[in-house]
Amino acid sequence: MKAIRIHAYGDVDTLCYEEAPMPEPGPADIRIRVHAAAVNPVDWKIRAGYLAALIPYKMPLTLGWDVSGVVDKIGSEVTHLAVGDAVYCRPDIARDGSYAEYMVVRASEVAPKPETLSHNEAAAVPLAGLTAWQALFQHAQLKKGERVLIHAGAGGVGSFAIQFAKSAGTHVIATASSGNAALVRDLGADEFVDYRAQRFEEVLDKVDVILDTIGGDTQARSIPLLNSGGRMFSVVATPDAAALAAVGATGGHFMVQPSSENLVRISRLIDNGTVRVVIDSVFPLSEARAAHTKSQTGRAKGKIVLEVVPA
Ligand SMILES: NC(=O)c1ccc[n+]([C@@H]2O[C@H](COP(=O)([O-])OP(=O)(O)OC[C@H]3O[C@@H](n4cnc5c(N)ncnc54)[C@H](OP(=O)(O)O)[C@@H]3O)[C@@H](O)[C@H]2O)c1
Repeated sequence: MKAIRIHAYGDVDTLCYEEAPMPEPGPADIRIRVHAAAVNPVDWKIRAGYLAALIPYKMPLTLGWDVSGVVDKIGSEVTHLAVGDAVYCRPDIARDGSYAEYMVVRASEVAPKPETLSHNEAAAVPLAGLTAWQALFQHAQLKKGERVLIHAGAGGVGSFAIQFAKSAGTHVIATASSGNAALVRDLGADEFVDYRAQRFEEVLDKVDVILDTIGGDTQARSIPLLNSGGRMFSVVATPDAAALAAVGATGGHFMVQPSSENLVRISRLIDNGTVRVVIDSVFPLSEARAAHTKSQTGRAKGKIVLEVVPA
């Protein structure tokens, strides 16, 4: 089968479109005929070796941890799935990924693909969608009527977070550049701040929850915006505990986890028309280098997809 693999950590040129062995499912696994994969910033961070100390990857490594496809083979212990089922998931990032014609995942990690989405759209959901979901509802315990600030509202994570937060009956504030104002408002943001033209901490009232997707100075300038009892969760860096305590808030950093149960709930919001998928661009699998180059600009508007089976 064809796959995009790396044989060593490095820049975009390390991505090789090549023949790879057909993966075989273990007893608790399924094999998926991949129809589409999505590109996430973690893919090029892993490619560059930033996670090497955390996860001991063996080379060659197939990248990509978002998939939509069709079950092709099931392990001996798998009873709840059958060959031919359309599924999607964000699998364990310690295993080989989805930039391939076939991939193996734990059967417990997948959910039925949303019926109203194409495979290209469905592949764009799991990693970013689960991150937004887990940040808002599991970590920050966002509640109806609260005010939530979402940084990078036009990005993969932010575009889902705005819609989830809105559907939970909260007041949503999003940051983005001016060219993305219409997009974030259309997704449901009640307030928008052009982070390049304005210092958001000078124009916003206090908030109860902050989803930080930027870190650094943006994270530090956000903390004083929290109400007492507020929560900040970051997907990039641990917030300063003393700064949080100074305003009576709490928070932390977390890594998204696979969750079939969360995906089922997200699928429901998609299939009932509450949540839509924003696609920045679609590349053929063989053009993963171009897709990484695009993701690394930090300017993607929604999700970047690798199409494996032409739609
Ligand atoms: N810990 C975890 O488990 C986890 C999970 C998912 C993602 N992440 C991390 O979270 C980050 C975001 O991921 P993503 O997939 O959403 O990235 P992405 O889709 O590549 O984000 C691109 C967006 O970021 C916006 N942006 C860039 N700088 C900004 C700033 N200073 N303020 C506001 N918006 C800004 C851009 O909007 P404009 O063009 O309008 O500037 C663009 O739309 C990445 O670092 C990723 O690795 C971590």
